[in-house]
Parts: sequence; structure tokens; C-alpha cells
Amino acid sequence: MPSPAVARLVVLVSGAGTNLQALLDAAAEPSYGARVVAVGADRDDIEGLARAERAGLPTFVRKVSQFETREGWDRAMRDIVSRFEPDLVVLAGFMKLVGEDFLAAFDGRVLNTHPALLPAFPGMHAPSDALAYGVKASGATLFVVDGGVDSGPIVAQVTVPVEPDDTVETLHERIKVAERTMLVDSVGRLAREGFTITDRKVRFGR
Ligand code: GRF
Repeated sequence: MPSPAVARLVVLVSGAGTNLQALLDAAAEPSYGARVVAVGADRDDIEGLARAERAGLPTFVRKVSQFETREGWDRAMRDIVSRFEPDLVVLAGFMKLVGEDFLAAFDGRVLNTHPALLPAFPGMHAPSDALAYGVKASGATLFVVDGGVDSGPIVAQVTVPVEPDDTVETLHERIKVAERTMLVDSVGRLAREGFTITDRKVRFGR
């Protein structure tokens, strides 16, 4: 991606939106190099959307149930996100897989953050799966979305310890603290420096 003066981010959320909030807070500083131009969701009444509204940002909701097919939903998401002309699309706790049409429109510029050290524990229940497996460390992964499930080229990873008395909630919360810092640092660098992907290797710079 070439680096525009200030990169335009569209962020998609499904829940609390603490990762979104971290991006909003970082982008308040012009030197960050990116700003959030719109926030979308696949459901109503979530704190992520409320955070965007409080920040005065345009929001949109496209629910899968509003469409006859999953492909129709995917195209609708593509169309509304396109209107905001994003340089990067950040899936920040967005609990849906985007499809082929969406990815074709924003080729190589869709990022997702996942609460595990990929390729371990892909899917919807990563903190729970990591805990059940008995790993002693976990963390978060920022990756460029491809057509698979949490399988794209890795931009950054951060590790946290798993404590003996952890519950899914305490582990996920520890991961999320580290995840937000990683997301903010990496998205800022991607925006300011640009990046290339060769043989799955993501490198900052042009
Ligand atoms: C994050 O841990 C993300 O990786 C996972 O769900 C969480 C979303 O948190 N998919 P939030 O909505 O940003 O607070």
C-alpha cells in the first residue's frame, strides 16, 4: 500500500469496541498518520457503534438476516464500505467472515485482529480453546485477511502469559490489553510506512 498523508480507516465491529476506541484515541494525534472515517457493524445496539457515534463518526449496520444470501450481505458490506474510500479496512472484533466480493474490492488491505497466536487456535473461541489446550502463553495476532479462516499473512503478534487460575474472561482480558497496543502500533506503521507482502511475509515500507 502506498502511504497517503493521512490514511483513511473504516473499522468494522460486533461488540464492545475497545480496539476501535484505542484506534480513535491514537488517531486524535495527527502524527498518527491514520484516521477512522466510518464504523460499521453486523448488528445493532453494541457499544462499538455507540463509541463511534460519540466520536461523531458515520456508522452503518448490515445484518446477514437482512439479505437473502450471504453473498448479498457481503456485496452490501462492500458497497457501503467503498463509499468511505478506505485505505485500510480494520476488522476489530468483527464476528463475521467477509467474502470474496468484499476482499476483491479491498485487495490486501483488510486487517483482522485475533485473540490467539495464529496459526494456533483460529476461529470464534480462541481464548477458550487456548485455555482448554493448556498452553502457558497466548496472545494476539494482527493479519491481512485472505479467503480462509484466520489464515492470512501475519503483520504482528504479541504474547501474554496464561496464569494457572485463569478463566476465559481473565485470559481474554489480558490478551485484549496487549492486543490494543499491538493494533494501534501496527496500524499506525502500516499507514505511515506502507507495506508489502511477499510469500506471506508482511514488511513495512514501500
Ligand atoms: C478482541 O479480542 C478480538 O480479537 C476478538 O474479540 C475481541 C473484541 O474486543 N475477536 P473489542 O470489541 O474490540 O473490545
